[in-house]
Amino acid sequence: MRKPIIAGNWKMHGTRASVAELLAALKQGVTSASNDHAEMIVFPPAIFIPQTEQALTGSPIHWGGQNTATEIGGAFTGEISAAMLLEFKCQYVLIGHSERRALYGETDAITVKKFNLAQQAGLQPILCLGETLEERQAGHTRHVVLRQLDAVLKQISDIQQLSHMILAYEPVWAIGTGLNATPEQAQEVHELLREQVAKYAPSIAEKMRILYGGSVKAANANSLFAMPDIDGGLVGGASLNAQEFLQIYHSIN
Ligand code: 13P
Repeated sequence: MRKPIIAGNWKMHGTRASVAELLAALKQGVTSASNDHAEMIVFPPAIFIPQTEQALTGSPIHWGGQNTATEIGGAFTGEISAAMLLEFKCQYVLIGHSERRALYGETDAITVKKFNLAQQAGLQPILCLGETLEERQAGHTRHVVLRQLDAVLKQISDIQQLSHMILAYEPVWAIGTGLNATPEQAQEVHELLREQVAKYAPSIAEKMRILYGGSVKAANANSLFAMPDIDGGLVGGASLNAQEFLQIYHSIN
């Protein structure tokens, strides 16, 4: 059985006050008794990670970084290493989010470097994949997501390195647009991704969580999570509203 994950990517949103309020509401909504069915993770902006650690320590909610550096440490102004995230008890890190790829020029090669360093440090990478609208319309969805996934798979020396990997399929055209992939469209890609990982490590593929991201809301969460290869969601906008995010979290029951 794969324990579903409901993750909130806050992107570049929040103030000290709004973060405190959001975390308090989530903490109240996710008690140890109610978190058996799914795991909740939040990804605050890096500067709010210490505040998040302080607020969530002792609660069943986990947290992680939205990004990490391509280097272990040194003269890299503005960067945050995997080891630094771990110091603040992050367990997870997003790797290769489409906004990193499109707006900050992150190539597959950069994504692979970050993936490896995160993993070596002991973080669980959530590798984000997805096609643009043009790529989908041109019929290139399979090609694009497999290219992004294979970049990581092909250079793995020890298959066990994949055992902590989580995937997030986030079609770029569905992010922040209010236009979600249909459950069938998402399922088709999730199944493809699982089959691809199975070529390298069948037992790991079976256990690997694949999250869907792109305009997940309380109103569409149920039908997406009902699909056999959708193991939860990576939620952007709707994760900033505690009530809606909790509704999404509880809808996976
Ligand atoms: P939205 O839920 O706002 O579409 O964002 C999805 C996303 O990019 C999560 O990483």
